[in-house]
Amino acid sequence: MPNRSDGRAFFAESCTSCHGPSGRGDGIISKDLPVAPTDLTTLSRTNGGTFPATRALAYIWGDPTQSHLARVMPQFGGAMADDLVPVKLDGVYTPTPRALAGLLAYLESIQG
Ligand code: HEC
Repeated sequence: MPNRSDGRAFFAESCTSCHGPSGRGDGIISKDLPVAPTDLTTLSRTNGGTFPATRALAYIWGDPTQSHLARVMPQFGGAMADDLVPVKLDGVYTPTPRALAGLLAYLESIQG
């Protein structure tokens, strides 16, 4: 099962250009985007103190019914669907891309 440090590595590779090295939304291209990247260290605080794992996962995965052009942030689903691990979300073991399972653990760990 992937852990927080796997997630940190994936984050450094895929997310920091927009969300910044510590996830605060201050990545090097953030100023050039039409929408400011979310401060990922406040996901719990803005959700009543609970890390919104299901919502975060669904957002990172993307919306298969919508074009990726409909939003600024890229979708990370696609090929990841071939490598799933069970992650408990809202009390239910849910097939989750291996890379995103580690990422969720990392995101939860950086909540302020
Ligand atoms: C090209 C820039 C870009 C990249 C790369 C990017 N994001 Fe985002 N992200 C955004 C922007 C901009 C938003 C604000 C909402 C929107 O317009 O898409 C956002 C919003 C989010 C949200 C908030 C969703 C909510 O519930 O409000 C999460 C969680 C998130 N990003 C996680 C990630 C993770 C994890 C990665 C790497 C796997 C990543 N993002 C890569 C630009 C980016």
